[in-house]
Amino acid sequence: MNRPLIIALDFKSRDEVDLFLKQFPNEQLFVKVGMELFYQEGPSIITHIKNQGHKIFLDLKLHDIPNTVKQAMKGLAKLEVDLVNVHAAGGKKMMEAAIEGLTLGTPLGKTRPACIAVTQLTSTSEKMIQEDLLITEQLDSVVLHYAKLAQESGLDGVVCSTHEVKRLNSELGRSFITVTPGIRMEGESSDDQSRVATPQLAKRLGSTCIVVGRSITKQQNPYKAYMKVKNAWEENEK
Ligand code: C5P
Repeated sequence: MNRPLIIALDFKSRDEVDLFLKQFPNEQLFVKVGMELFYQEGPSIITHIKNQGHKIFLDLKLHDIPNTVKQAMKGLAKLEVDLVNVHAAGGKKMMEAAIEGLTLGTPLGKTRPACIAVTQLTSTSEKMIQEDLLITEQLDSVVLHYAKLAQESGLDGVVCSTHEVKRLNSELGRSFITVTPGIRMEGESSDDQSRVATPQLAKRLGSTCIVVGRSITKQQNPYKAYMKVKNAWEENEK
């Protein structure tokens, strides 16, 4: 995966997606489709976006018994998306089953979608870990443990905070993908994200790819905003 910038299509409907995408007539984008859009529009939204030449991260965060996840992943692979994910909390057997399902569902001659694990949601606090989940370890140890488990299960990487990337890279190697949301340009509001980073910092810390939503989708000129974020993300490569 060559360090893409992924735009979070946090829209309610196909019409909203179309309005947004038509502002990028000559760009091949990498977009993220989450639960909100997928559950409203169904699998046809994937075909619709793919037909326009864009790459897709289908962010459904699967978490169920191994066989159910395997069968679900088999179906998702048939949609020929590029990236999918599961919750690492589902355990090693479930993550292995996810890879098995993806491999089975990938059409002949095509590449299996990459699969990453959510270690802990960014909405999970230290307090929640201890009081709700009764986990006595510190949040960062839990994140590292889940990431190791994901790697042992054959997954390709994790979704994590930019601030966890350095440690994960040094413990698990640079080829293990780190996908980092919570990206904001200098001086922008962080909204509901608690630990944000600029694209430049994400790059310096070693993120494989960044996920950017509102800094592009909610701007008056999304194309201009996209180019600004893209230039900042690719800055050191030039
Ligand atoms: O608008 P913003 O850039 O904050 O959007 C970030 C996107 O990344 C949203 O789609 C959000 O659901 C997603 N995400 C996240 N934190 C995670 C996993 C996914 O913000 N840990």
